[in-house]
Amino acid sequence: MNSPAQRPAVAAGPVDFDRYIDDRIDEGVFAVHRDIFRDEFLFELEMKYIFESNWVFLCHTSQISRPHDFYTTHIGRQPVLVTRNAAGELKAFLNTCTHKGSLVCLTRAGNRKFHSCTYHGWTFDSAGRCVSIKDHADAAYTPAFEADGHDLQAVPKLGEYRGWIFASLNPDVLPLEEHLGDARVFIDLLVEQAPDGMELVRGNASYTFPGNWKLQVENCLDGYHLNIAHKGFIEITRRRIERAGAAYKGPDIEAMFGVNLKTGSFGLKNGHALFFTENPAPEFRPLWPQREQIAARLGAGRAKWLLQYGRNLTIFPNVQCTDNAVIGQFRVLRPLGTALTEMEIYCWVPVGEPAAARRQRLRQYEDFFNISSTGTPDDVGAYRNCQQGLQARAVDWLHGHGRGMGAMVRGGNEYARELGIEPETSSAGPLNMSDETLFHANYRQWLRLMKDGQRRALATGEIG
Ligand code: FES
Ligand SMILES: [Fe+2]
Repeated sequence: MNSPAQRPAVAAGPVDFDRYIDDRIDEGVFAVHRDIFRDEFLFELEMKYIFESNWVFLCHTSQISRPHDFYTTHIGRQPVLVTRNAAGELKAFLNTCTHKGSLVCLTRAGNRKFHSCTYHGWTFDSAGRCVSIKDHADAAYTPAFEADGHDLQAVPKLGEYRGWIFASLNPDVLPLEEHLGDARVFIDLLVEQAPDGMELVRGNASYTFPGNWKLQVENCLDGYHLNIAHKGFIEITRRRIERAGAAYKGPDIEAMFGVNLKTGSFGLKNGHALFFTENPAPEFRPLWPQREQIAARLGAGRAKWLLQYGRNLTIFPNVQCTDNAVIGQFRVLRPLGTALTEMEIYCWVPVGEPAAARRQRLRQYEDFFNISSTGTPDDVGAYRNCQQGLQARAVDWLHGHGRGMGAMVRGGNEYARELGIEPETSSAGPLNMSDETLFHANYRQWLRLMKDGQRRALATGEIG
């Protein structure tokens, strides 16, 4: 494998991004260079060319549902204020005061007709219009100033797919539905599990981990680590089963590896990917009592995919949803630095579900997914250990993207045909295969976006 020729502290000129991803799947090779997890200048370019030039997930409509609701977040490094105006229309602005640049809204979420800047009091309405400049009449502004616009700057592209809200700072992107492509089928499955739709439970956990954001992108779809990194959870489950016997109500993770469960994955277009596993104990899912209504509503095929296959989905680059043997979790990631990432995690629930099912769901969520759970701390520790290990700069390439390549096919397989999708690659096999080919889609998109971004920067003369 070739190695990047040089490791500058900043990118002085065009970067040969092809040297970071060795994509020769016809020869049985796919490898990722370790520098993309540790080099500062690549992180800056990722923010610019991936996060700030492409669709990224902002929030879910359940977080901003009524007129004048607002939600603050980021696109890459840039602060964003999402609002609903008086008519309930969705808007997104850069969260920066047009006066001297302060954040206009300092609060995470709420409901306000007006956002008043805390520095000098300029005030903007929920449609982003500057409606008040303090002491305007006495200001002796020039006609040129008065003629200038002082409204908040709108984010150029804003879109929603079934309640999932995305935006792009680059107006020149694919239509959102095209960008999501076949990932929409899996969003549909997530959304259609309840007749009245799904929402994020109010209240969430937020934490940072000392590792690169792509460690999280991979981990969500990494079945290989489950019975090693989460040994503690498996041991706890074993003891619960021992103590409770037949009264135990939950999946037996250890036993999953001993039976012939069907698993597979899809590398989808535009960087998205999905991993699925046959659910060994669908009867413990909170939705199970409603299986007949679900089948009647969605048809047997979709009901099977919903209830009997656990699905972990990544919408590249920053949102993930798991809906598997345990329960649904929604994750939004935000890169803060080469080795620092912020996570916002939520419990994904049906609107108006019966109290008993909601209780079961929340307890399952707390058990494995919440930050103080038996699962998530294991992953956070693994990210920290990876990031520290990756500082071994004498080592160039990861060997972590090869499992399942012998079973991978270009395009779809029988599962894809069942779902009516056309992935870039598909893979199917026993659980112990723990496929790693689905990550190829993430890195192909990484490479595509980095090259596209650099091409644009060269064309505009931003870099020479
Ligand atoms: S910075 Fe906002 S009013 Fe001055
Ligand atoms: Fe994990």
